[in-house]
Parts: sequence; structure tokens; C-alpha cells
Amino acid sequence: MSKIIVANWKMNGSLEMAYSYCTSLKALAKATPPSNTLVICPPAPYLTFLNGALSGTCISIGAQDCSAHEKGAFTGSMNAAMVNDAGGRYVIIGHSERRQQFQESPETLTAKITQALDQSLIPIFCIGEHLADFEAGQTNKTLTAQLTSLKGITGNVIIAYEPVWAIGTGKVASPDTIQSTCAFIQETVKKTYNLDCPLLYGGSVTPENAPSILTLPAVQGLLVGGASLNAEGFWAISRAA
Ligand code: PGA
Repeated sequence: MSKIIVANWKMNGSLEMAYSYCTSLKALAKATPPSNTLVICPPAPYLTFLNGALSGTCISIGAQDCSAHEKGAFTGSMNAAMVNDAGGRYVIIGHSERRQQFQESPETLTAKITQALDQSLIPIFCIGEHLADFEAGQTNKTLTAQLTSLKGITGNVIIAYEPVWAIGTGKVASPDTIQSTCAFIQETVKKTYNLDCPLLYGGSVTPENAPSILTLPAVQGLLVGGASLNAEGFWAISRAA
């Protein structure tokens, strides 16, 4: 089955990098059309550029965040309609870096998911436990609490399970942990919120470890940070399924 492979550039890159990245990716995709869904989430100022540069390919783009509000006096924010205008089809919501750095609450995240769905964007809703929760065997409890942001949500939502201790650390979660946790998340969202959500894994994914993660039955794709900053590396990951 086709997988969803998402690149999260975070606050990295430049227009020059975006140009060479798209040139390389387009050439690779032309030579071997991708069988998986590829999504690139660059910093917001480059969305329009990527939308143009990747037109004519099946590679989609997305934003790394959107506002919880429809419009108005929110200096520095970008609403879901603007993401749509820029050609975005997806939006990452609730990444652990935003939860920590911008104190995003579960209610704020519900509002962001709602805004995204109202603008026909596909939210990629991120959840994940800190190391202390993991070591204390509290992962499922933490994730269950984070999933309350899905209360009242209907529509297509992708969930990314990203253990905070695995992000940018080189410490990838074990296949057993990924499989059991993603299966738990899938069951919980079905039972509690009546949602069927594809599950992505994120946290120190590389071209080397991607094949074994993508064979896990509960995993429908990957959310890739550091290793997605290089077009060839991201391409290799996307070919791993
Ligand atoms: P990483 O980041 O691949 O660099 O660990 C993943 C993420 O934060 O989405």
C-alpha cells in the first residue's frame, strides 16, 4: 500500500537551497515516478516557490503550522486559507517544538485542526511523549491526553507519532515500540473519536532505518526532519517502502 512520506524542513533552508532541492527532486521523480505520497513542508516564505517549482509533479507541499483563528489582528500568523492560497495541501499541527516553544494547548490545537479542515487542508497532527514519560511507562497515558484535541473533529486527519526523545537525537524508537504505540493510537482514535487516521512515525528517521519502520503494519508513513533537508536523502527514504 502507498505510504505518506513528509519532509519537515523546520526553520532551515534558503531560496537557493529550495531551488536546487526542487531541481534534484524533480529529476529523480521524472526518472522513477514515486509510488508513495510525497509532501514537502518548507518554511512558509518558500511555499509559493515550491508550489511553482514542483508543479507538474505529484509531489505536494504543506505548511509547518497555521493559525487557530480565521483572520484578524494576529501579527506574524498565517491562516489556513493562506496556506491553501500558497498551494499547500497539508499542514503540520502540534509539533512538539511548537507545543514547547509556543505553549500550544490542546484547545488551541483543536482550533487549528478545525481551521485546516475548513480550508480543505489535511492536518498532520503530531503527538509524542517526553523521555520521562517513556521511562515511567506513561506513554499511552500522555498520548491519550494529547489525543483529546481530536474531540469533535470530523474529516481526514493524519497523526504523526513522534517521541520527543527521538526527535533530532539519533535515537530512533524500536520497531516494537513504534508498532505497539501506533496500533494503540489507531485503536484509541477509532474507539474514542470514530476517526480512521493514517499513522506516521517521526524521530531520527534516516535512509538506513526507514525500510524497517515502513514494514511495520501500523505505520502508514514517515515524518522526516533532519534527513529531509537533502533531496537525495529524502528521496532515498521515500523509496524505502
Ligand atoms: P528528525 O525530526 O527527523 O530530525 O528527528 C523529526 C521531526 O521533528 O518532525
